[in-house]
Amino acid sequence: MNSKVPVLAIDGPSGSGKGTVGQILAQRLGWHFLDSGALYRALGVAAIRERVSLDDKPTLARLATSMDIHFVPRTDGGAAAVLLHGEEIGDPLRTEESGRLASIVAAIPEVRQALLQKQHSLRQPPGLVADGRDMGSTVFPDAILKVYLTASPEVRAQRRYKQLIEKGFDVNLPRLLDEIRERDARDAGRVVSPLKPAEDACILDTSQLDISGVVERVHGLLQERQRPG
Ligand code: C5P
Repeated sequence: MNSKVPVLAIDGPSGSGKGTVGQILAQRLGWHFLDSGALYRALGVAAIRERVSLDDKPTLARLATSMDIHFVPRTDGGAAAVLLHGEEIGDPLRTEESGRLASIVAAIPEVRQALLQKQHSLRQPPGLVADGRDMGSTVFPDAILKVYLTASPEVRAQRRYKQLIEKGFDVNLPRLLDEIRERDARDAGRVVSPLKPAEDACILDTSQLDISGVVERVHGLLQERQRPG
């Protein structure tokens, strides 16, 4: 692992704004961006395509090890294209169903271990903004700054609702809120890398902030950390 390359770790639950904030900051800084949730989502999608049962932990771990996944950044700064065995996954990666599948496979320790090396390999100069649940606590414990974004489940459901409607998905707000609560409970309750802030993370409640407010706060914190002395 290239431990000299700075990492900005942004963790938090679904809908906390970490993906959007992370992408904007990565573009502003000229750093790479890791959407670690996409790895777990891609594995969920791959398992369904290959008809692997979500109870079959050894096969899921093997699938995670052999999964050929690449991120292709977009020039407009939008979410990178995710290629699974050379083919773009596209919309199926972003549905609530793929989020649910991701949180099931993500609870398997061998799967997390298998995806660790892939995440470390994306730490490349001049820097990496890494978004997920355990970027600061487990994957990049030496991150220069660890931020944990959070917001109430209602605010997060509303944000996800807007995002999914804009992408043309058919969604139901009360059901989305139930799914978010269910996913939070599964992510927070698992044995390995449960969803919780790293001990040295800066916790930011984004319920009352818009995206640009969060971007400026996190950028300001990063600049403080980078200041010599
Ligand atoms: O961030 P996103 O909603 O795409 O993540 C989907 C799921 O993947 C999460 O609910 C979580 O279970 C899992 N995940 C994880 N660790 C990460 C990123 C995502 O367990 N670092």
